[in-house]
Amino acid sequence: MRLDKLLSHMGYGTRKEIKKLMKQGVVLVDGQVIKDSSVHVHPEKQRIEIYGESVQYREFVYLMMNKPKGVISATEDLVERTVIDLLPEEYLPFQVFPVGRLDKDTEGLLLITNDGKLTHELLSPKKHVPKTYIADVSGVVTQNDIHIFRRGVTLDDGYETLPSELRILEVDELTRRSRIELTIYEGKFHQVKRMFEAVHKKVVHLKRISMGPLTLDPELYPGDFRELTENELEMLKGRST
Ligand code: URA
Repeated sequence: MRLDKLLSHMGYGTRKEIKKLMKQGVVLVDGQVIKDSSVHVHPEKQRIEIYGESVQYREFVYLMMNKPKGVISATEDLVERTVIDLLPEEYLPFQVFPVGRLDKDTEGLLLITNDGKLTHELLSPKKHVPKTYIADVSGVVTQNDIHIFRRGVTLDDGYETLPSELRILEVDELTRRSRIELTIYEGKFHQVKRMFEAVHKKVVHLKRISMGPLTLDPELYPGDFRELTENELEMLKGRST
């Protein structure tokens, strides 16, 4: 791989900027100053340094974000702020994108990556990857709703959902509000909201807390993100193959 391409990919600037940097003699390959930006390197076998810092080349990036309300799950938009807009510039060269969508007013776990294969596996309808949500619902959620959800719900367009697991966490009879946990095994448009509409209730707050083997890190405030740990990545990949 060309050295300037690699460094640009790692977020050290445009190819032109890197060419300039290299002329200053700040880039070393296996301890040798390299000034020619067109040189080819083997990132896994050679030691690359810039400003005395070693460059850890990697093809893929995996981020866990606690998506805040008010931003959309897209890579770019002319009007709305996207989850990618929340990331520091260093991630942009990797061309990361969100894995699936959370609604603008939904918060919680969102995986952001540039690994197309893993994304495909996680989103494939055939894989039935579980996704768990906590929701505040206007209305009293009942045992009957649990039975209905367990059998599958008919949505407004006639679609029959797969069986899902509904747990009632809290019910306030006075204000007619419920807090629930719901695990679904597919990802239709506005699915959770539409499932509750089917039983004449309204989701007023929705947060995703897990997706497959990944659980939202409680240390992440809305808008925060972190890289997946090796363990999380192994679990994800193990599940998807
Ligand atoms: N279901 C919804 O209704 N909205 C989401 O954002 C995710 C699941």
